[in-house]
Amino acid sequence: MSKKLTISTIIKSKGVKPLVMITAYDALFARLLSDSADMILVGDSLNMSFAGKSDTISATLEQMIYHTNAVCSGAPNSFVVCDMPFGTYIDADKALQNSIKVFQETNADCVKIEGGADKAHIVKHLTSNAIAVCGHIGLLPQSVRSEGGYKVKGKTADEKTALIEDAKAVEAAGAFCMVVEGVKADVAKSIAESVDIPVIGIGAGVDVDGQVLVFSDMLGLFEEFTPKFVKKYMDGASLVRSAAQEYSQEVQEKIFPKEEHTY
Ligand code: KIV
Repeated sequence: MSKKLTISTIIKSKGVKPLVMITAYDALFARLLSDSADMILVGDSLNMSFAGKSDTISATLEQMIYHTNAVCSGAPNSFVVCDMPFGTYIDADKALQNSIKVFQETNADCVKIEGGADKAHIVKHLTSNAIAVCGHIGLLPQSVRSEGGYKVKGKTADEKTALIEDAKAVEAAGAFCMVVEGVKADVAKSIAESVDIPVIGIGAGVDVDGQVLVFSDMLGLFEEFTPKFVKKYMDGASLVRSAAQEYSQEVQEKIFPKEEHTY
């Protein structure tokens, strides 16, 4: 996408055009993906696919700022979302201090906060201090340890009611869009219908206002596990391995470098 979207064009896209969000963690991939994405998410999922950890919990604000800067450099015309990592928004003041740091030290266009009605006061504190917020409800990866795993949400009528209340609370607090993760598709549809801001789904079916995938999942680069909702658009891991093997063989057999690679 050549022109950076604005918050108001993102909100106006609801019901008009599905939004495309992809994660990126560095300038190289941000540049490659920017033409296909309305928004680039510097997700704390980088702690898993980039830093090799088993979950997102140990991602730090410094890490997020470093990677957000790289993404903003690689894709200066993209709308960039910086994920606030675990522990950086435990109260409204801490959230504001940390979000101000993100805004002052990067060109991120907004921050993303996990949580629903319980975090609405934090979203409100940020949005009323000129920090744009993308919400994130449903399955919350930062709660993986306290919940004992990644649990799909919206399986009961009570969960459905709570999720719709979460969405409404996050919207009322001033978020301009929200991610809905790991939610039964019919419930995600009801969530999208219950708010006027775009609902970006991941593992939430097709009846929402856009989709987000982690780039290393959709390119088939991340092999540790593949959630049901991931579609691999290429077999990146095999392509990388076979290119590396070919290079290794050519080095050992002195086939590379050839004349054209030599000064
Ligand atoms: O960290 C991340 O990449 C995310 C997506 C899964 C939405 O939050």
